[in-house]
Amino acid sequence: MPAHNARQVPKAANNGTPSFLSDKSAKVFLAGHKGMLGTAIHRRLAALGFTNIVGRTRAELDLTCEPAVHKFFDAEQPRYVILAAGKVGGLHASSAAPADFMTENLRITVNVLTAARRCGTVRKLLFLATSAVYPVDAPQPIPESALLTGPPAPGNEWFVVLRSSSMAAKILQERACIYTYGRATCNSI
Ligand SMILES: NC(=O)c1ccc[n+]([C@@H]2O[C@H](COP(=O)([O-])OP(=O)(O)OC[C@H]3O[C@@H](n4cnc5c(N)ncnc54)[C@H](OP(=O)(O)O)[C@@H]3O)[C@@H](O)[C@H]2O)c1
Repeated sequence: MPAHNARQVPKAANNGTPSFLSDKSAKVFLAGHKGMLGTAIHRRLAALGFTNIVGRTRAELDLTCEPAVHKFFDAEQPRYVILAAGKVGGLHASSAAPADFMTENLRITVNVLTAARRCGTVRKLLFLATSAVYPVDAPQPIPESALLTGPPAPGNEWFVVLRSSSMAAKILQERACIYTYGRATCNSI
């Protein structure tokens, strides 16, 4: 999430709807809010003045469980979603059990993206990928268009497969969002 100076943020986006950073009372679902990234994002959003951040631990809401995720979105109806939840184990653990990591992370990604699209209230969704899915010689800052255009850094192959499966789901869901609602209604990054 880029650092923003709140005073420089425009009050409204071009189409008249408030920009994310000026929509501070809107409900934000921060998936993985107790994780390393999620904790930092939560702290930053609170410092920026966001007053309606919703989080659930895995014990409260298992994001691999599709019916539970849909029920949660139908009940909470968030306007923004930040997906910082995932099975994370480092290169060694993910190389030892790649199928477990891939299926669990793909389930989480597909369930959250699908529920966000279906519930109809989500205006913007941020999916946290990783720079490791991009080619080692991608331009900086890395554009999304660089995905799958070259080889990853040596040693990152398994990690790339794991994360790219989520990225592929993300790209498919983004297309589905645009085809179904149009970019203005449900926009994923
Ligand atoms: N850390 C980095 O530098 C970095 C860089 C780029 C991308 N990422 C990506 O960002 C995401 C978060 O990374 P992280 O380092 O913050 O990981 P982390 O500290 O392990 O946090 C992961 C979070 O996801 C939650 N979670 C996992 N499985 C879940 C499930 N089935 N249902 C609900 N919640 C679940 C965990 O909740 P519980 O604690 O309740 O299990 C935890 O809060 C990952 O997808 C990672 O690949 C991380």
